[in-house]
This record gives sequence, structure tokens and C-alpha cells, in this order.
Amino acid sequence: MTTVPTQFDAMAWITNGEPEPEKLSQVLEAATCEEMLARYKEVEAIYNKSEYEIICLWLLAAKDTADRGARYGQIAHLYETITDGIGMMDGVALAASYVAKYVAKDARILDVAAGTGSMGKFLFNEHGYRNLEALDISPGMLEEARKKNVYTAFYQKALGEPWDFADGEFDATTCINMLPDPTAVSVDVAFNEPIRVTKPGGYVIFTLIVTGAEKLGYLDKLAELEAAGQWKSVDVSEALDAGAGWSEPLTPRTYVYQVL
Ligand SMILES: C[S@@+](CC[C@H](N)C(=O)[O-])C[C@H]1O[C@@H](n2cnc3c(N)ncnc32)[C@H](O)[C@@H]1O
Repeated sequence: MTTVPTQFDAMAWITNGEPEPEKLSQVLEAATCEEMLARYKEVEAIYNKSEYEIICLWLLAAKDTADRGARYGQIAHLYETITDGIGMMDGVALAASYVAKYVAKDARILDVAAGTGSMGKFLFNEHGYRNLEALDISPGMLEEARKKNVYTAFYQKALGEPWDFADGEFDATTCINMLPDPTAVSVDVAFNEPIRVTKPGGYVIFTLIVTGAEKLGYLDKLAELEAAGQWKSVDVSEALDAGAGWSEPLTPRTYVYQVL
């Protein structure tokens, strides 16, 4: 059974409020990043978005989980340049410092949506963690992560779908620079599996882009899970000011929850 929001019309959500939404849809429907950038050149005067932003919109506009994984795979070699270029790598370093504040060095940590492994790199190199495992939908992104030699296991799985890990198998779960992405996972189920596979007393540590998170009901969901006795809020970072060259500010915050 899949719990990914298959009925969610990602393209309508992305193009909503943009001038001439059909033109933007045609750009974002391209199967390859190269083709998308070529189409975008024809219409860029209308949208005036940076190359990094249009690539990120193209990633969001994937048709389904397999397409999303394939799209990320196409830009895996560029991914960290993009993240750094828009100031989001600082958010990864900040999130890693919150892991170091709460989670024991010998902890078994599942890095959800690990991508190319930036979080693993900070946890391994800066904070001495050695028991890191990477989960992501994209084989291409996991391939880049593998090259870093900081993870001991790799899982091609989706956040939002049931995982075959045992309850409480991990000491901590992280999910950095992915949420909120309503095109990839619904807020209703985003935290179910991270909470289930993290042992009681362990930590779920994630970033949210604050403005999007509020609009998409994430802040309500965090409180709802706390009221239901699933976890308790332990810490939350300042909101960073990222998103250089973006049409709207990107403000990632790190959240630390302890599973009950
Ligand atoms: C913006 S990147 C973040 C990567 C990494 N955490 C970082 O901070 O550099 C988002 C990652 O989430 C993955 N992803 C997207 N939807 C996913 C899902 N439903 N389940 C697991 N991974 C997903 C993508 O393949 C991509 O690697």
C-alpha cells in the first residue's frame, strides 16, 4: 500500500499564480534536465527565475516517485553546487550540530532523503559519527552518497511509504532539506515511519522551510503528534536566511523531537 499523495497535482501547485502557467508546465514536463533548460531559455523573460530555481521546480514537478528519483539522479553531480549556491548547505551544517548536541556518537542513525550524503559528511567528518545509514528514492543520488564513504548501508525507499525496518531499530532519524515537499510526501504521513523506526528516547531531527511548512500544515502536525504523545519537542534552531537568487526567501529551521 502506498501512502504517497498520488492525487496531488504537483504541476498545478507549482504553476499556481505564475504568469501563463501552461507555458511553465510545458517547460517542467521535459523528461531531461537538458531539455527543460533548453525549453526554459525560450520563456525565461516571462519567469525570470535563476537556473538553480528552475531546476528545483523541475525536480518538484516529477510525475511520480520513480520519475522524481530519476530526475534527482540526472542532477546528482550538480546537487551540492546548487545547494551551496543558494545557501542551503549552511542548514545542513546547522542540523548536524543539533544531532551532535543530543545524539550519542555510537548511535545508529538513519538519514532519510540522504541525497548525495551532505548530512552524512558533516556527521562523519565534523562530529565523529560512524554508524550512519542512507535512505533515498533516487539511485543516482545514493550513488553519489556512496562515494563519500560515510554510510554503512543504503536503502532505496520512499518517505511516506511503509518501511521494512523493525520498530525502534534506530537511535535517531534525520531528514534534512527535504520538507515540506507536498509533491513527494503528504504531511499526514511524513513522520509516521521516522517515529516508528526510532526507539523510545531516541531523536527525530529534521529541517523545515518555515514559510512553506506553516502553509502546508506542518507546524500543526508537529503539535498534533506531540498532543498524541508520540514525541516531545526538545529544541528548535533559528531560521536561516537562505535562498540567494530565489524568488522567495528560503528559511530552514532545524527541529529536534524525542520519541516517547
Ligand atoms: C533536496 S534533497 C536533500 C538531500 C540531503 N538531505 C541534503 O540535505 O543534502 C532531497 C532528497 O530527497 C529525496 N526524496 C524526494 N522525495 C523522497 C521521498 N518521498 N522519500 C525519500 N527520499 C525522497 C530526493 O531524491 C533527494 O535526494
